Amino acid sequence: MYSRIIGTGSYLPEKILTNQDLERIVDTSDEWIHSRTGITQRHIAADDQMASDLALNASKMAMEMANLVADEIDLIIVATTTPDMIFPSTACILQEKLGVKDCPAFDIQAVCSGFVYALAMADMFIRAGKCRNALVVGSEIYSNIVDWNDRSTCVLFGDGAGAVILTKDEQPGILSSHLHANGSYSKALSVPGNISRGKIQGNPYISMEGNTVFKFAVKVLEDVAREAMAENNLQASDIDWLIPHQANIRIIKSTAKKLGIPMEKVVTTVEKHGNTSAASIPLALDIAVRDGRIKSGQLVLLEGIGGGFTWGAVLLRWGDL
Ligand code: UT7
Repeated sequence: MYSRIIGTGSYLPEKILTNQDLERIVDTSDEWIHSRTGITQRHIAADDQMASDLALNASKMAMEMANLVADEIDLIIVATTTPDMIFPSTACILQEKLGVKDCPAFDIQAVCSGFVYALAMADMFIRAGKCRNALVVGSEIYSNIVDWNDRSTCVLFGDGAGAVILTKDEQPGILSSHLHANGSYSKALSVPGNISRGKIQGNPYISMEGNTVFKFAVKVLEDVAREAMAENNLQASDIDWLIPHQANIRIIKSTAKKLGIPMEKVVTTVEKHGNTSAASIPLALDIAVRDGRIKSGQLVLLEGIGGGFTWGAVLLRWGDL
């Protein structure tokens, strides 16, 4: 028994914030941002939009592509670091908005690796015979947790959502998943604040040691890709599409170069989306599926790294939609 993706969807909020706009907010330049990260613009959610709203739009598209109605969904997992509220989970709020009744629904918190973690978990549910059709979403509103006075972080992130429908099938689908974490790096990338006794305690904004994240990312994104290929007796030349987490074009290019995968086989969206954390991989996947790049029979490697640190990869063979 396997699971395979039969629908994808994505959503980006209407408002676009360009590097030129940021030049008016903090001491930065389009030249610095573009040359150091590859980013030219990012999307920003409206004040009344929550992670569940972005997720809802992406989910509807994925369900439409999969030709599924609400009743047929029997698992919802939302990967998010920016939930609507402390509880209930964004997955439960999304479940209600979609009109899905009585299926397990929960959030996963693995920051930018969240979608890879969620997809791996949904695959395990399906292979264990616990569900037939899973909705797996990455949805983020990082504009709520970046300090708009901190030029070292506010230029990097954006808002958005991506979703997939994973279904039970006799053919793969997902070939393998590989998840890791190293909590000794928890302070290198965090939002350390919390809410207690009715007040925000500590810093409620992203705090990041950029160079530490950069070096770690380049190493583990190579390692976990090799781990996935080795488990499936594959070479880098067998991979048709690499879809890495979209944090920085320099991290993506270094990873691809170390793996020997040409950039023509790498899906990149960081230029137009910025870093949308758990949403970046399903957003990139949806774009490459809808523009016809990803074709039936091709091998696709998804990989991410995020706060924790967490990192992971999912290798899959794309099937007919
Ligand atoms: O999703 C996973 C989470 N995040 C990541 O993966 C991010 C990983 N890290 C990175 O992408 C890079 O480390 C950054 C893009 C964050 C930074 O790039 P860098 O090439 O490592 O720059 P840096 O931090 O070494 O800073 C270089 C200079 C510093 O000035 P001095 O000390 O050399 O005078 C910074 O103050 O650039 C300055 N700087 C800026 N200048 C203009 C930092 N941010 C900005 C800015 N505009 N926005």
